[in-house]
Amino acid sequence: MTTVLIGLGATVASAAPSRYEAETAPVVCTGTIDANHAGYSGTGFCNGDNAVGAAVRLTVTTSAAGTATLDVRFANGSTTARPAAVLVNGTSTQTVPFAPTGAWTTWVTTTVTVPVTPGTTTIGFSPTTAGGLPNLDYFDLTGGGPSPSPSPCAPPSSSSPPPQGQVTVWLAGDSTVADPSGGTVCPAGWGSQFAQYFTSDVTVRNSAVGGRSIQTWLYDPNVTSTKNPAGECVVSPETYSSRWQAMLDPTTGMKRGDYLLIQFGINDGTSACPRHVGSARYQQLLGMMATAAKARGAHPVFLTPPAALTCSGSTAVGNRGFVTETNSAGSANAVPVIDLHRLSYTLYNSLRFCPFNGDYGSGPVGAFFCDDHTHFEPSGARQIAGVVTRALRDQQIPLATYLR
Ligand code: GCU
Ligand code: CA
Repeated sequence: MTTVLIGLGATVASAAPSRYEAETAPVVCTGTIDANHAGYSGTGFCNGDNAVGAAVRLTVTTSAAGTATLDVRFANGSTTARPAAVLVNGTSTQTVPFAPTGAWTTWVTTTVTVPVTPGTTTIGFSPTTAGGLPNLDYFDLTGGGPSPSPSPCAPPSSSSPPPQGQVTVWLAGDSTVADPSGGTVCPAGWGSQFAQYFTSDVTVRNSAVGGRSIQTWLYDPNVTSTKNPAGECVVSPETYSSRWQAMLDPTTGMKRGDYLLIQFGINDGTSACPRHVGSARYQQLLGMMATAAKARGAHPVFLTPPAALTCSGSTAVGNRGFVTETNSAGSANAVPVIDLHRLSYTLYNSLRFCPFNGDYGSGPVGAFFCDDHTHFEPSGARQIAGVVTRALRDQQIPLATYLR
């Protein structure tokens, strides 16, 4: 069972409904925040664990006693109802049937009324059968008296300073980020050289894996070699990879104040499945990862992929895709973007790697790259890691306060 603790404390508005997205504070989702079934509002929905008692909870603050109305938007693409007890401060008041809606992309609203008292009231939906809850999109709350404060509390923001103490930096990426494997030194991703730049308060958990697109990283081994009519690789079953599940784990995964650095876009451009990822899907998956990190109080950061060494005469130039997509996903999700693509070829230029005679076995280029223009020797990886840390400082990303 996974529990996504998003935060507590909110206010019931007196007239217009207050919308509580299931993926955002103050809603608590026992399950995962997903975005793989279209039609939801906000940035995702709560996919509750399929188990009796895997509840979703919402704590509201009201100034008057009375009855509040809750419109619950859900999708139940299974063929059976997913009944749930409505718990008001822990006491069951009624059962909602959550009947099948025909498809996971068909979202409907059901209304429940709940008694509220002045102060806080916790409203829970606790499934009574092994199927668990349907997927839940949002709760619209009306009534409960005048608001004692104007708005629900905001989820942790990526610009707020990290709490003091131990911070874990989680890395998701491909071979240009990954630790060297199988006793070899090459290729070494920049993630393997990152920790040395930080104080002992920072632990780097490098979960980057060579050859992965964002989608295969998230869903291994379930991305098939088949494309759907929209041109995307079919994912079946839609079960997350163990590496992403480890980051989502409520006790040992991402926690408040941690960072999640995400860098893909090299393998994603492959035309064939399972690696292929289209533009929109790439941005959707970045958004889904950012939402999951934020739901745990962690701070996501997106990176564009480092450039391969390509010389145009005596100038190193850019050559990677998914740069625009990464920037757009950053804007759409209010996530800072480190443009490692530009910063890396700028580094190649400052190191005067161009023009280049093609010999990766000797000279400064040979010491930086493995036997190709993409992968780094440990020394190259250390310099790329240094570029990332300088960007943290330059962009005033609060993780920089932990740099040595
Ligand atoms: C599918 C579906 C999920 C849903 C789950 C369930 O896996 O993709 O969104 O939550 O079924 O049965 O609960
Ligand atoms: Ca579910």
